Amino acid sequence: MTANSRRTFAIISHPDAGKTTLTEKLLLQGGAIHLAGEVKARGQARRARSDWMKIEQQRGISVTSSVMTFEKEYGGETITFNLLDTPGHEDFSEDTYRTLTAVDSAVMVIDAAKGIEPQTRKLFEVCRLRSVPIITFINKVDREGRDPFETLDEVADMLALDVSPQSWPVGMGGQFQGILDFASGTVCRPEGPSKEFLGKRDENPDIPENFAEEAELAQVGYPEFDPEAYRNGDLTPVYFGSALKSFGVTELIDAIAAHAPPPRPQPAGEGHVAPDRDEVTGFIFKVQANMDPNHRDRIAFMRQVSGTFKRGMKLTPSGLGKPISVHSPILFFAQDRELADTAEAGDIIGIPNHGTLRVGDTLSEKNEVRFTGLPNFAPEILRRVQLKDPTKTKQLRKALDDLSEEGVIQVFYPEIGANHIIGVVGQLQLEVFVDRLSVEYKVEAALEPAPFATARWIKGDARALADFESFNRPNLARDRDGDLVFMAKSPWDVNYQVEKNPELTFSATKER
Ligand code: G4P
Repeated sequence: MTANSRRTFAIISHPDAGKTTLTEKLLLQGGAIHLAGEVKARGQARRARSDWMKIEQQRGISVTSSVMTFEKEYGGETITFNLLDTPGHEDFSEDTYRTLTAVDSAVMVIDAAKGIEPQTRKLFEVCRLRSVPIITFINKVDREGRDPFETLDEVADMLALDVSPQSWPVGMGGQFQGILDFASGTVCRPEGPSKEFLGKRDENPDIPENFAEEAELAQVGYPEFDPEAYRNGDLTPVYFGSALKSFGVTELIDAIAAHAPPPRPQPAGEGHVAPDRDEVTGFIFKVQANMDPNHRDRIAFMRQVSGTFKRGMKLTPSGLGKPISVHSPILFFAQDRELADTAEAGDIIGIPNHGTLRVGDTLSEKNEVRFTGLPNFAPEILRRVQLKDPTKTKQLRKALDDLSEEGVIQVFYPEIGANHIIGVVGQLQLEVFVDRLSVEYKVEAALEPAPFATARWIKGDARALADFESFNRPNLARDRDGDLVFMAKSPWDVNYQVEKNPELTFSATKER
């Protein structure tokens, strides 16, 4: 198997749009879970998920982004799908964003009744930053929804993206009679009491005139599918379906196999690293503390960028400088963790370690490559850390170092004053932080409001920077790399400074 047969992707959606249901159906199609156990597995999976979250919160373990791998045959070729799960909370965190740096494409799930929701939009913007190509799945057509044209136009207008419908619902909700696939002209029909798709495809469908007209309009009224525009992130093919009733799932998976890009070259200091580079390289996009609080071991998730990995191989982490042997790598199959013997570009490998591997680290055989593009995001919540026991300064410092390296929080050291300021993108990150501080570092701390609403990394020539510094010292801090950060009291404050200081750049993301 080669890197070309890999499809590494994530599902982006707003909570409740159906990501979990669709994930289960995709895994089912790929044979990773079995039909007979589905109902039970579903109940268990849900319970497992909520238990896991409870444990995560109790123990303060950072929120999981797991990896699910499944395969499907296409004319003798096996395609391996690596689906990276992005945590589905109302609240999102930097984990989610970083996960998106490790994929080559994404599926955007939209609820047919609700259209684009805030979180879909945020995640979409992250994909756009990296020109990640997107396939759109408009879910829940078995329910009453909006006019499909309205949803298509909303995607096109709100996201400034060409839409190219590939299928059409023959009615929705009570009138739902199946899904017309434009390429084959067949209609997938609902069957049985639960009106599911059980494999019945109508080759010569009789479609009521009003729906036939709609479908006709949808085909002539929007751009044709253009693989290049899709891969550049300028156009999205759109599939209608119902994850719950299994409509559109096969079409979606086949579209990923046929059109989604195999591993893409990844940005590095010295240009892009292509998947066929004759050396194993990869980067850590996620570090997860292990379930067992007595062992400080962690699993680092590496997105492999090039080469063929073999178990036992020596790789050098950029943060360490000396090689480590990777003798118990983990590949993530749906439910079980399996020991991997080999892995290709595009695969995700879990590497157990004791804190030697950090988010943003590059791993490679020759220790020459450094991947870039794993961003820090301007925090949207800033807090002062107030120690309850002032003798614990050292422990606090250690915890801040560790947890910021792991990507749980960002830490800022104000130019004036002693209290550290921590920044996060989502509220949940704060809870995880306080919990882990207490459980793992035995440090009790209170978080107090900081008089800042957000932060921007500042760049410019030395003189302009020095001038800015002398005027704004109370609002300046350094991040843990020592880079200068403007702490803003409000978004207005940011705009004001941007206008007043045209010679400086104020950036909402920072690449390591
Ligand atoms: P999420 O991961 O994006 O948050 O969504 P999830 O799959 O958990 O789905 C959210 C709710 O929407 C679930 O209902 C799920 O059954 C339902 N759903 C998902 N896809 C479809 C679909 O195609 N059609 C219809 N009609 N419903 C769909 P719930 O009542 O919250 O959960 P449950 O009682 O089914 O467990």
